[in-house]
Amino acid sequence: MIYLDNGATSFPKMPGMIETMTNCMSNYCGNPGRSGHYMSMKTGEEIYKTRKGLAKLFNIADPGRIVFTSNTTTALNQGIRGILKQGDHVITTAMEHNSVLRPLKALEEQGIGHTIIPCDRAGFVNIRDIKASIKENTKLIVCTHASNVTGTIMPIKEIGQLARRNSILFMVDAAQSAGVLPINVVEMNIDLLAMPGHKGLLGPMGTGVLYVAEDIQLDPLFQGGTGTASKDRKQPKDVPEGLESGTGNAPGIIGLGYSVEKLMQIGVISIRNYEEELTALLDEGLRNMKRVIVYGPEDCSKKAGIVTFNIKEKSCEQVADQLNEYYGIASRGGFHCAGLAHKTIGTWETGAVRLSVGPFNTKKEIKTAIEAVFRITQKL
Ligand code: ALA
Repeated sequence: MIYLDNGATSFPKMPGMIETMTNCMSNYCGNPGRSGHYMSMKTGEEIYKTRKGLAKLFNIADPGRIVFTSNTTTALNQGIRGILKQGDHVITTAMEHNSVLRPLKALEEQGIGHTIIPCDRAGFVNIRDIKASIKENTKLIVCTHASNVTGTIMPIKEIGQLARRNSILFMVDAAQSAGVLPINVVEMNIDLLAMPGHKGLLGPMGTGVLYVAEDIQLDPLFQGGTGTASKDRKQPKDVPEGLESGTGNAPGIIGLGYSVEKLMQIGVISIRNYEEELTALLDEGLRNMKRVIVYGPEDCSKKAGIVTFNIKEKSCEQVADQLNEYYGIASRGGFHCAGLAHKTIGTWETGAVRLSVGPFNTKKEIKTAIEAVFRITQKL
C-alpha cells in the first residue's frame, strides 16, 4: 500500500521503535513511580528520558512540565478544562479540530464563553481579527499550528506575542506539526502545547503529550493514584504526577522517547524540507488537472504535508474508496472531525479527500498517486 494518511497517524514508524517497546515489555516493564525495585525504577528512568527528549525538541527548560496523556484530545481537554473557570472567555479559530471546538461548546454550559475567528478560504487566520476579539475576561487563545484539513500553517509566533502583550494564556494544538515543523515554546510564547506521539513524532498510538508552562496550575481532568502522597485524600498539585493519575502507557512512552531521539538526530528541518518537496510535487500535480479542485494554500511553504482535493462530479468517499481499492493508496475522505474548517474552505456539503505525506514516502509514490487521481478523473 502507498500510505498517504499520515495526518491520521504516521506509518511506518521510526525503525527500531517497535524493538524498543518489545524490549521494555519483555525485559523490565514495571509500574513506574510506584515501587522501589529495579523494574519499576528502570521504567521510570526510561520514561524520564522521553520527557527529556521532548523538552529538548521544543526548548522546554524543565522536562517535569511534560505531561503524558493517551492522545491529543485528552491533552487539549486537560489544558482547556484545567485552566478555564466560569466567567472566562476563550478565542479560537474556525480551522480547529473538534477536539478544541467540542470542549469549548460544552463549556458554554458552565458560563465560559468563546469567540471563533473566521479564517480565509485558504484557512489563514488574520491576527487583527484575533486582536479585535480580545475582551477584558479573555483568559486563553487556542489555535492549531497546522490545520488537519488543509495543512495551513497559522502565524503562531505572532499570536503568541499578541497573547503575551495582553496577558492572555496561549495554547497550541500541534497535532499536525509536532516533529514536522520547528516549535520553540519560548520564542513562540506558548503556555500550553498539546500533541500526539503517534503522528509526526513517529511514536505509537496511545501516547499524547501536554506541555504546561512553569507558572500554570491546571485543575486535573481526573483524580486518582499518582504514586505520591498516598495518605492524602486530595489530588496532589505537583506536575506531572498530579495530571497523570493511574498507570500510563509506559512501553508506548518509551517507544516514543526512542523515536524522538532518532528524529532529533535526523533533524526536524531536514524532515520538513523533504516533506515540503513531496507536498509541492503532489499539490502541483493535482492542481494541474482540469477536473480537480485543490484546497488550502498554493504556496507549500505555508502548509504542512497535506493536500486536500475533490474531483468534480465525484464524491470524496468514492474517490477515497477508488484510491484504496484500485490503486492501493491510503487517503482520508470526509470531514476530518473538523466541520468548521470544511465550511471555511467551501466543502461543507461535500467534504474532501485528504492525502498527507510522511518522511518515509518517496517521490515515486507521489507520482503514482498523481497518476491514480488522473485516472480516476478520466472515469467519470
Ligand atoms: N485527527 C486525525 C485526522 O485529522 C485523526 O485525521
